[in-house]
Amino acid sequence: MGNSERKGFASSFGAIAAAAGSAIGLGNIWRFPYTVGANGGGAFLCIYILFVFLLGVPLMMGELMVGRKAQKDVLGAYKVLSPTHKGWLSLGWLSLITAFLIYSFYSVVAGWTVNYVVLSASGRFMGETPAAISQIFAEFTSHPWIPVLYMGIFVALTAIIVTKGVQKGIEKSCKVLMPVLFILMFVLCIRSVTLPGASKGIDFLFNPDFSKINGGAILSALGQALFSLSLGMGCLVTYGSYIRKQDNLLKTSVVIASADTLIAVMSGVAIFPAVFAFGLSPASGPSLVYEVLPNVFNAMAFGTVFAVFFFLLLSIAALTSTISLLEILVAWGVEELHQSRTKATILCSTGIFLLGAVCALSFGPLSHITICGLTIFDLFDKLTATYFMPIGALALAVFIGWHLTKEETFDELSNSGSLKCSYYKAWRFIVRYIAPIALFVVLVAGSLGIEF
Ligand code: TRP
Repeated sequence: MGNSERKGFASSFGAIAAAAGSAIGLGNIWRFPYTVGANGGGAFLCIYILFVFLLGVPLMMGELMVGRKAQKDVLGAYKVLSPTHKGWLSLGWLSLITAFLIYSFYSVVAGWTVNYVVLSASGRFMGETPAAISQIFAEFTSHPWIPVLYMGIFVALTAIIVTKGVQKGIEKSCKVLMPVLFILMFVLCIRSVTLPGASKGIDFLFNPDFSKINGGAILSALGQALFSLSLGMGCLVTYGSYIRKQDNLLKTSVVIASADTLIAVMSGVAIFPAVFAFGLSPASGPSLVYEVLPNVFNAMAFGTVFAVFFFLLLSIAALTSTISLLEILVAWGVEELHQSRTKATILCSTGIFLLGAVCALSFGPLSHITICGLTIFDLFDKLTATYFMPIGALALAVFIGWHLTKEETFDELSNSGSLKCSYYKAWRFIVRYIAPIALFVVLVAGSLGIEF
């Protein structure tokens, strides 16, 4: 596909909706609460928010800028912007590998979510005790083929939409469904905080106890921030290449980061009071949301309706994220390997399905296979969020801060001088010094501090 055929987003709002659709997903509602839970609550939240706005927003602007300037997929972008220093291509490759790994474990969780729509609709959780609900979760995730089936359905659905092009279906539906997700989340928050014994959960989330913070927790906060914002692996390079030249990258990034953080905090508010009210453990890991929320729905009037609706919307939020993950790979297949969009989509999705099946089964038949004490699923999650994405973000910061010239980056951020860009000096200082140093320190300290 030549540049002339490149279809970009039609409007600023479309660009924001698509990029926010990528950012807001399982990372906010499934991953964020259990990561907060495993790292001690409030203090982790403070560090997380600091990372999102201090590092996340400037890096997001940088990623979008690289894509928009190059008008290319993630590998092509580094070819175009660094024709003589081929070393930068490895950053493109790292991005592609990371997208592949993330997508494969992400689609497993997305599959669980779809299964929860079905289970909720059939009243499977109704009247069950918290222990029984946890048991249902454990049983179906360890089933020898059901999770693979649902994962496959999800991968196929994503593929269908990506072959059709993202704008019409997804951009349109995102604009409606994201606000609905927000309203439902709000209702859940209200129900959760009014449960008896809820205050413990609110304390846990908002009362920082900094003694619980160590290198590992800081590294997790950074990994979570990058994961949630879809940063550090070229996703936003790809989307940036679809953004119109006249859109304001600062505004776009701030809106996305704020919406993303709001949804994450809201899901914390929906979950932690309920965790404590139902006597569950905040540190129970990836199963947290799936074990806790059915109890909240049980305690609500019209619980079944809310449950079905909620898991459906969560599936859709996940879908807008998997679309962005697949789009990274497909854009590369189309523009670098010169495949048709359909063929690239089918090939990538088949690969994802095979790897995803291994991840799905690592909760059941393959749970005995561990690497460094982690199951395959946990390994992919940890490897990408804790190492690959921070490394990708570090390399990106060096690329935009040191490799691209001041003129190039100013031109892109100011839309060729038409925006004032009074923040430019601060932005450049962050990407040149603060971000690389912070990312490096956190990576090294975190790697030494945690057993991995
Ligand atoms: N940010 C998404 C979420 O929070 C997940 C996601 C989509 C992602 N695209 C990505 C994560 C690219 C990392 C990189 O659910």
